[in-house]
Amino acid sequence: MVKTFILPENVETDNVCLVIDVLRATSTIATALSNGALFVKPVEKVEEALSLQRKDTLLCGERGGLKIEGFDLGNSPLEYKKEIVEGKGIILTTTNGTKAVKLLKCSKIIAVSFLNVSSVVNFVKESEEINIVCSGTEGKFSLEDFLLAGMIVKLLGREDLDDASKVAMRYYENVKDVEAELRRSSHAQKLINLGFEKDVIFCSQIDLFDIVPILENGVFISK
Ligand code: MLT
Repeated sequence: MVKTFILPENVETDNVCLVIDVLRATSTIATALSNGALFVKPVEKVEEALSLQRKDTLLCGERGGLKIEGFDLGNSPLEYKKEIVEGKGIILTTTNGTKAVKLLKCSKIIAVSFLNVSSVVNFVKESEEINIVCSGTEGKFSLEDFLLAGMIVKLLGREDLDDASKVAMRYYENVKDVEAELRRSSHAQKLINLGFEKDVIFCSQIDLFDIVPILENGVFISK
């Protein structure tokens, strides 16, 4: 069965979970790992991130969309360049995405974005149960996550879909231009107002990376 959850709060499963935060946490995770980061450790609180700081790690994340004071990087995937992240561990705390990951109790948690959607779909498509989990934005539904959920359902090509998956797929099928649709979301509007329009464009790209970020022992590593 393929199930779609519009928010991470009520996900009760110990099966495979694909966690989505298109703008921007899961796009950032895919970018960091593709550019050679050793791992990305999602943490909920700033204090916890600070306590994990080591010589070979970068402290990363945002609050209100902006880089946290004293941190090395914010949550813009464009900051995660090869020359900056290669060989480093990333400690990442974000408002919604890393919180969603911490809420889930699944056997396999995989971070998915438009940037790595096909790789993730190919990796999980034989699984009996697949849970597609949108992070949402501060407890509310978010358009961009649901759009990607619809694309995942479409690519899976399965018939055992719950109602939310059917609606997500129909929504995706009716969208002609992913970037234009993403721009309509309230979180994209907020990011554009903060000066991150390039992030919205970047995060709309499909299959830029061939990477499956999977959570093992509390850190995302690439498969
Ligand atoms: C989040 O996880 O809350 C988002 O990625 C926020 C952001 O756009 O930085």
